[in-house]
Amino acid sequence: MEAVEIRDKYIKFFESKGHKQIPSAPVVPENDPSVLFNTAGMQPLVPYLMGEPHPYGTRLCDYQKCMRTNDLDEVGDVTHHTFFEMLGNWSLGDYFKEESIAWSFELLTKILNIPVERLAVTVFRGNDIVAADDESANIWRKMGISDKRIKFLGEDDNWWPNMELTGPCGPDTEIFYFRSEDEIPEEFDPEDDRWVEIWNNVFMQYNHNEDGTFTELPKKNVDTGMGLERITAVLEGVNDNYTSSIWKDVIEKIESITGLNYEGNEKAMRIIADHIRSAVFISADPSGIKPSNTDQGYILRRLIRRAIRYAKKLNIDINSNWEEEIANLIIEKYKKYYVEVGENAQVVRDVLKNEKVKFNRTLEKGLKEFEKIASKITDGKMDKDNAFRLYDTFGFPIELTVELASEMNIKVDEEGFKEKFKAHQELSRAGAKEKFKGGLASTGETETMYHTATHLLNAALKVVLGNDVHQKGSNITEERMRFDFSCDHKLTDEEKQKVESLVNEWIDAGYEVTKQEMSKEDAINSGAECMFIEKYPDVVTVYKIGEVSAELCGGPHVENTSKLSHIKIKKEEAVSAGVRRIKAVFVK
Ligand code: ALA
Repeated sequence: MEAVEIRDKYIKFFESKGHKQIPSAPVVPENDPSVLFNTAGMQPLVPYLMGEPHPYGTRLCDYQKCMRTNDLDEVGDVTHHTFFEMLGNWSLGDYFKEESIAWSFELLTKILNIPVERLAVTVFRGNDIVAADDESANIWRKMGISDKRIKFLGEDDNWWPNMELTGPCGPDTEIFYFRSEDEIPEEFDPEDDRWVEIWNNVFMQYNHNEDGTFTELPKKNVDTGMGLERITAVLEGVNDNYTSSIWKDVIEKIESITGLNYEGNEKAMRIIADHIRSAVFISADPSGIKPSNTDQGYILRRLIRRAIRYAKKLNIDINSNWEEEIANLIIEKYKKYYVEVGENAQVVRDVLKNEKVKFNRTLEKGLKEFEKIASKITDGKMDKDNAFRLYDTFGFPIELTVELASEMNIKVDEEGFKEKFKAHQELSRAGAKEKFKGGLASTGETETMYHTATHLLNAALKVVLGNDVHQKGSNITEERMRFDFSCDHKLTDEEKQKVESLVNEWIDAGYEVTKQEMSKEDAINSGAECMFIEKYPDVVTVYKIGEVSAELCGGPHVENTSKLSHIKIKKEEAVSAGVRRIKAVFVK
């Protein structure tokens, strides 16, 4: 059964049981800075699992975009993926174990036609918080699952997410499928990896509080999750997920681009397929993530750069449009289910191409440098300085260096690298701050004017380029202002023009510049812009310019924008990866 049919049947089935389909949330969580990506269907539902009423009611179902990046470097085998879709259904204080188990069983055996003989389950053995889940075991027995196919396991296996993480949680029952041609053993052995987990039903009735205690949630919930990639492979009877209907055409595309067969090139082809698909979903997400050296942007960069390296291994001409061809196929496949993938198709293509061009410039030289370094290593160890050089000068994410090195049985001093990386970051931050301060040190009339103008420029860049533009530094003299900001591309003439006009419009508007002291927290919550939050004291000064700008800043500033002359952007250039610099002057 193809994935499209499974997705469809899943939703229809739960709709027939009174569930409302909810749209997939973005893959980058909207209100949860504690995680980089949504890793499960329940994540966007946390407030509702905690008791807030959901606008769609108490029975929900969906397919949710998820990303799990812990195993990024494992991708290349038959089962691992970074991005995946999770089919889920929820009861928010509505039905509980009886219905949940019965419906999972019905869907698997009646709709997806899995023979009962191939199924087995685990249930919770109990701990000092909750007793053994005999109730679930009994329901499974009623469904016709024999005792030999029901195993009671502890909290490491049957508690979700786990005992350490805070938030809603609870015991679960997991459903396994016997994925092998071998004769099916009568007794289920959860350690035997021919049995693969296909569905997890969590009986989410606790909140794990920050102080370590567990309290009952106001209502008992059900949270289930089934990975679409895995269930598809299972139902199509394939052991290699990448040969299922989800991946077949993508792999065929890579075969046609390379002129090579999948057989013999599986690892590289799987990595390219998986990583480009994930890059498509991350860059199409409304969050507007771009490749960078931090957080989600760094994952995106790693994915694209790792895909490029494997494309090179398959002798793909990196300068051809190979990545676009693969991305276009993926976009076509998914845009019906995730509209943003179609709507942001051009953004996706641009992200992939820009990052490719950037990496490609240094890849060849970097690989040569890597070989040179490696050839001199006699003790099987690469030191932190060389690893850092590969990162800093050639744009090799540390993980890439580690992977290349491990192919030659070389160990990289990753700890040392991390220390060096941190020191370097602090240095460049301090440097930027010095420069920033330096700009403020001399505060003649013109400098003060330029200073106010940088706030307007910062705000205008956000309007024109989007909210992920942030100040990275600034330097002011009597002759000019210099302003560094995060941005992944060279500004077009039109963009520069727009920025300049907007600043000048605001200057003409004669906005008042006001100053207010407030707590750092209030300032951040009010959305005020700032460069290095951790460096600010608890009480900060926020300068507001009309309604167009609010920034944490020490001043000084002019009292009204009408005191400024119009600005002219003289130059726009790159400073480092992902950081651009504008030089501007006042024109009389
Ligand atoms: N939230 C559960 C999981 O991710 C269903 O397995």
